[in-house]
Amino acid sequence: MKITIINGPNLNLLGSRETDIYGDQNFDSFFKSLKLKYPEIDLDYHQSNIEGELINIIQDSRESDGIIINAAAYTHTSVGIGDAIKAIDTKVIEVHISNTFSREEFRHNSYLSPVVDGIIIGFGLNSYELAIQSILSQR
Ligand code: DQA
Repeated sequence: MKITIINGPNLNLLGSRETDIYGDQNFDSFFKSLKLKYPEIDLDYHQSNIEGELINIIQDSRESDGIIINAAAYTHTSVGIGDAIKAIDTKVIEVHISNTFSREEFRHNSYLSPVVDGIIIGFGLNSYELAIQSILSQR
């Protein structure tokens, strides 16, 4: 089983960025722990700060059994990322580290939510693990 995790802009700075909101763990160390915990899954990880690159990664990941995407700020702006998800048949879970609905109003809209299979929001980095478990439980 292959699961691809895709992170959008500024998530490469996790661990030092707004730690009161996003916590102090960097994603690379979190990803290593996920790989150790789920050795049976071929877990793949990509991050980009560039919208078009994220669209390319989504297209290139369409053979995965599941995609977990945190499009970060592009969640709230990108018709293109929403269309890329619509264009593939792969199961896609949208995740967010923070509870976007308890934050500024512009974070309440998502161009991804209407086109993904499920959404996990507000559980810190654990949102990614919950998404893995949801994909595993629906196999
Ligand atoms: C985020 C929430 C977004 O609103 C924000 O732009 C991010 C991170 C989250 O995981 O909580 O960069 O997607």
